[in-house]
Amino acid sequence: MKITIIGAGYVGLVTGTCFAESGNDVTCLDVDTGKVELLNRGGVPIYEPGLEELVKRNVAAGRLKFTTRYDEAIRNSQCVFICVGTPQDESGAADLRFVQAASENMAPWLKADAIVICKSTVPVGTNRRVAEWIRAKTNTRFHIASNPEFLKEGAAIDDFTKPDRVVVGADDEQAADVLQELYRPFLRTEKPFLVVGIESAEMIKYVANCMLATKISFINEMANICERVGADINEVRKGIGHDARIGFSFLFPGVGYGGSCFPKDVRALASLAADKGVEARILRTVDETNNQQKFVLFHKLMNYFGGDLTNRTIAVWGLSFKPRTDDIREAPSLVLIRSLLQAGATVKVHDPVALENVRKELGDTVTYCIHHYDACDGADAIAIVTEWNEFRNPDFDYIKLKMKSPVIFDGRNLYDRQKMAARGFYYSGIGLSALPGTD
Ligand SMILES: NC(=O)c1ccc[n+]([C@@H]2O[C@H](COP(=O)([O-])OP(=O)(O)OC[C@H]3O[C@@H](n4cnc5c(N)ncnc54)[C@H](O)[C@@H]3O)[C@@H](O)[C@H]2O)c1
Repeated sequence: MKITIIGAGYVGLVTGTCFAESGNDVTCLDVDTGKVELLNRGGVPIYEPGLEELVKRNVAAGRLKFTTRYDEAIRNSQCVFICVGTPQDESGAADLRFVQAASENMAPWLKADAIVICKSTVPVGTNRRVAEWIRAKTNTRFHIASNPEFLKEGAAIDDFTKPDRVVVGADDEQAADVLQELYRPFLRTEKPFLVVGIESAEMIKYVANCMLATKISFINEMANICERVGADINEVRKGIGHDARIGFSFLFPGVGYGGSCFPKDVRALASLAADKGVEARILRTVDETNNQQKFVLFHKLMNYFGGDLTNRTIAVWGLSFKPRTDDIREAPSLVLIRSLLQAGATVKVHDPVALENVRKELGDTVTYCIHHYDACDGADAIAIVTEWNEFRNPDFDYIKLKMKSPVIFDGRNLYDRQKMAARGFYYSGIGLSALPGTD
């Protein structure tokens, strides 16, 4: 099948590459000439495990191409996927500028009966607007479908090729049938291909993300209560997780969710609800709770150092909004670092892959360390923000030698606090009751 992907970002590049890997002829189109040039030189603009190898293989096989030209990319395509960004606008709603531009720019080149599929996360009603934007620019007959994407950065290839389900919103059977054919290679383990109404498909994506964000804010709130009442959230988690109605997934306390999806999607659905006269109290609270949680390590550090962080050096481990990605959009690390800097602290940061992205945000206000141990040199405390695997079993004796004082504020509960006490560290996690002589 000839496929065009508009927007070669985290979603578009993964989608295009995986469709190419299953034998389709794919062109990825992006307005970012730098990105397209890099891809055409064999580079990959984002860090996503396994992606580079797949891109190279499919480019070499002639199944994957990159361009900035709409005419070239759209003309012969049977399926055109819109994968452009839908960031938040000033009011909190989804900004559909890029979706509109993609729709209008593709319109003159669409071939008859092409299917235009929106994979970008968009508010209910947007797919119908896509059809109107296209119709205003062409008389060619085309079909529309909504196909929300559920991949997770850091595991995107696996999620795309082994989805829990594929959701397609379509009015006509023809579009749904073509998409089912396209997804067949990824659904061999009898995972469902769900055909629903277009509005339901649009809503499914928001509801899924809002549910997950709600779980995170909920467990974070419970963790904060645990800390005050002398309970241990790890024990509480086990106690509730074995209840089949609750389960264990997405109930790890931390420093708040970030990334390009949860924050903006929660706000966009709340904003859509308000437009329709529904007050989305839960969503507003989830957002607010999350914004507060991003300060949790800062408050703990301030408290520990008696309200004064001047002349203190803090090592920050983990900058990306989650492990195995270089994405720092809405990352909790940035909130912590900016607060530390404002409070007069010196900040040394490390991340296995996101240093360059952070440098673009923070310039020379912090020290960038290639190794997480380097960040510990002369540090008064370590703050762990992102749970990269390499942080799970560090050489604590070595760290202790390097630090000014053995103090760790762990935003991801990576270590056993009894063992940390035995190693001679002051160790503070999230939602952990105080150990005598520590918290
Ligand atoms: N990142 C994720 O984990 C994820 C997961 C599921 C769904 N989504 C949704 O998918 C969409 C894309 O997200 P992303 O993270 O891949 O975004 P991204 O910012 O990484 O990529 C978007 C790309 O679209 C390009 N673009 C913008 N306007 C264009 C135009 N008119 N024509 C061609 N290209 C254009 C940009 O240059 C950029 O490369 C969003 O709606 C997002 O909410 C993202």
